[in-house]
Amino acid sequence: MTSRPWSTGVRRALPALGAALALAVSVIVGLPTTSQAAAQGPCDIYAAAGTPCVAAHSTVRALYSGYDGPLYQVRRSSDDGYTTVGPLTAGGVADAAAQDAFCADTSCVITRVYDQSANHNDLTIEGPGGNGGQDVGAYANALPVTVDGHKAYGVYITPGTGYRDDATKGVATGSTAQDEYMVTSGTHVDGGCCFDYGNAETNNDDNGSGHMSAINFGTECWFPPCTGSGPWVQADLENGLFAGGNGSNPGNRGNSGPFVTALVRTNGTSDYSIEGGNAQSGALTDWYDGSLPTTGGYIPMHQEGAIVLGTGGDDSNSSAGSFFEGVMTAGLPSAATDAAVQADIVAAGYTAYAGSAPAVGSRISLRATTACCTGDYLTHDDSDTKVVIAAVTSASAATTRSDATWLVEAGLADSSCVSFESANDPGQYLRHSGFELWLNTDDGSAQFAQDATFCAQPGIDGQGFSFQTVNYPGTYIRHFDYTVYVASDGGSNTWDNANLWTSDVSWAVTSPWA
Ligand code: AHR
Ligand code: AHR
Repeated sequence: MTSRPWSTGVRRALPALGAALALAVSVIVGLPTTSQAAAQGPCDIYAAAGTPCVAAHSTVRALYSGYDGPLYQVRRSSDDGYTTVGPLTAGGVADAAAQDAFCADTSCVITRVYDQSANHNDLTIEGPGGNGGQDVGAYANALPVTVDGHKAYGVYITPGTGYRDDATKGVATGSTAQDEYMVTSGTHVDGGCCFDYGNAETNNDDNGSGHMSAINFGTECWFPPCTGSGPWVQADLENGLFAGGNGSNPGNRGNSGPFVTALVRTNGTSDYSIEGGNAQSGALTDWYDGSLPTTGGYIPMHQEGAIVLGTGGDDSNSSAGSFFEGVMTAGLPSAATDAAVQADIVAAGYTAYAGSAPAVGSRISLRATTACCTGDYLTHDDSDTKVVIAAVTSASAATTRSDATWLVEAGLADSSCVSFESANDPGQYLRHSGFELWLNTDDGSAQFAQDATFCAQPGIDGQGFSFQTVNYPGTYIRHFDYTVYVASDGGSNTWDNANLWTSDVSWAVTSPWA
């Protein structure tokens, strides 16, 4: 492929060169030159290069070294009160403790992700669109992460969750050039349409080819063949998730690590490029750098300038994903500038949050934390497939103890979550059906895998862990009247009762009874 004049074609190369260049740029423009990782954020780097951020979103850190405004807003269910969470220090990591304090003993959803640029292109919960209904907000404590040694929370997108801004300022429209990246995760993905971040339609509808230029990340291979099983960084240019070229690009081999940098660039008139990298180390890989699709409608682009997070352009919202940070620029930075931003992301220090899930491979019991029932454990009865809570002690019969013992395995439908196999009924897993919890044999179906996969997070009432269903956002394993269900806070089933919900969905992980 010919190297385009708009791209230097050396993008594979040298994060060190990128960092050096950023340093050189900062010297030229007179910015401080000590401690580059702390002194410059991605948007400082893009600004210094003459391609400023026109939108900068993150719930985990400030993206400008001087930013100390709000990062995101949460709403708690106990009183519908709101608060905003900002960085611990200007340019720093989010103050997760402020969220934890505000959301103690209740549940919170993220209602707004602030734009840190002067454009105020804030993302709020997406409304209905051409191919999806009203979206919901992400549970605020569903995606703990450690950044620069501090706990923070990412945006945990499950099907039905989405954010948008349809009336933006400064974002590329028509065939204007734009660069955009996000930091996401390869462990929480699906093949549903469409986990996107970036430029989309202003009316939540599919307005035709070229009306979007967003980053897509997931396992949906829209234009076979694709190489491997993904997830792939792709470009959602509308009516297709493009792995490169006219869609199919077996050269795009995907990025599956726990923290992934995903980047899509277009000059709007002739070319686009796709890059992916490990957000914890190393450089970006050029998966594609060449012509926009020649299949009609994409040359030139017809960008509309809305910003979407977590859904497709028409609000198609059957996708899952993780979002930590993302920006969109005015104009097209050089490859070296993108490389410097990747170096900054690596320096930010993304690591898994320790203690956010019981360890895969462990053998555990799960004790209720509600005051009524702190001697009761999640268990099944061999004569029945129903799951209940019941008292277990060291004096209990061997069968009683093993009925209350579970093997923690990688989630059948999502390896970043978990599944629970019975210790004494091999092949049988906790799964919900009709929003009740059962012990059933894995039948190998996708439905079973979904129903048997739970995403662990720190306990909603501050104790132990809570386990959210992977397929029903906001729905958690809960005991109610000594029977176990999956329940949302104040939903329509009897067992969704808001009274004691936070305690009933919080489980202490104990040593196994058997
Ligand atoms: O381009 C893929 C998807 O197709 C878009 O996100 C959506 O608007 C349409 O359904
Ligand atoms: O538990 C809710 C749903 O009920 C499950 O996803 C499905 O298996 C059943 O219809």
